[in-house]
Amino acid sequence: MVKQTILKALHRFGLFQFAKKLYWTTLSVCASHGVLSDLWYLFSGTFRREHRAVLVGRTKHKRGFNASKDDGAAYTLRRNTHRIEKGLIMRPRRDVFALDYIAETVRMYHSLANLSDSDSCHAETLAWSRDVLGEYFNCVDGAHPIIAKAKRVFEDSKHAPAKDDIQRRPYQRDLNKPIGITIDQLHDLAYRRRSCRWFLQQPVPRELIDRAIEIGTLAPSACNRQPFQFRIFDRAADAERIGKIPGGTAGFFENFPCVIVLVGELSAFPAERDRHIPYIDASLAAMGFQFALEVQGLSSCCINWPDIESREQAIEKAMDLSPEERVIMLIAVGYPDPDAMVPYSQKKPLSEIRSYFAN
Ligand SMILES: Cc1cc2nc3c(=O)[nH]c(=O)nc-3n(C[C@H](O)[C@H](O)[C@H](O)COP(=O)(O)O)c2cc1C
Repeated sequence: MVKQTILKALHRFGLFQFAKKLYWTTLSVCASHGVLSDLWYLFSGTFRREHRAVLVGRTKHKRGFNASKDDGAAYTLRRNTHRIEKGLIMRPRRDVFALDYIAETVRMYHSLANLSDSDSCHAETLAWSRDVLGEYFNCVDGAHPIIAKAKRVFEDSKHAPAKDDIQRRPYQRDLNKPIGITIDQLHDLAYRRRSCRWFLQQPVPRELIDRAIEIGTLAPSACNRQPFQFRIFDRAADAERIGKIPGGTAGFFENFPCVIVLVGELSAFPAERDRHIPYIDASLAAMGFQFALEVQGLSSCCINWPDIESREQAIEKAMDLSPEERVIMLIAVGYPDPDAMVPYSQKKPLSEIRSYFAN
């Protein structure tokens, strides 16, 4: 509103071109140095929401260490369990490893396990950690004082009884088992998946979405944290209400039978350096998810989430998001309308997109 008024006034007094030139000159001066860039963004405030999200995320992460309701402990446990698995598969495996984080790991395990019942939202994480930590203490030098102390904490924990006979610890893959899919079939699937914007007006079965999400969650993620959520709006009215917020859906959001919001969780991280990970991890999961939809007869369209304050406020309110929960993208899902077209969307050729480095 303020911006519009200023623009109108500039036009009115014939100062628009001058102001535009001044803007770009100032911007290029600020771009020339880090401190000046800081000043630019201090005044523009463009990253304000993101800054706050990172700080709130870090705070919640830290608070979670005391095993409150926040997820810091579970995320740390996932990361450390992953690191221990890497130690277990190391060649040669060392008798003593993980000394700088084993105490933290068992402390997180102990407090979460003692808090939770077997149906808790962290049950799978705890089952994985239980098996990996069990294997760790079997393999390492138990006489080492740090390891001995950690083992006592682990043994003192309230382990949930195993629900199945799956051993959640490093294993050798059966590479002789055929994958059952050829490179040509994979190509056909990738080619078949196109962004679909027109859907049949029929509900999307939840079991198909759930199956696709399970496949999406098999994607790689940094330290296996998986710091994202699929939040699903599968009533047409809700899909329309949410689907229109981003803006890149004008003209077709009315026909979405289902919209999924991928939300990244900055509470998964203790430090700023990892703030991009939710975006990377969720996007990798999104691809597997979309392929899985396609083989089940469903189609999808990713929808850009632009960092525009008014839209941020709208989706925050509509979804009751906390400050550290960042929207990564939306995905419209439905049965494709067979009469609708999709853009050709020419892909870049190999020669433009890859280069090998060789002497
Ligand atoms: C992160 C992301 C954001 C996108 N945002 C939109 C969007 O807002 N509106 C839209 O119609 N399509 C959107 N798309 C779809 C792209 O336009 C589409 O993927 C691209 O043109 C290539 O076409 P294809 O998916 O059919 O291969 C988005 C795709 C991605 C990956």
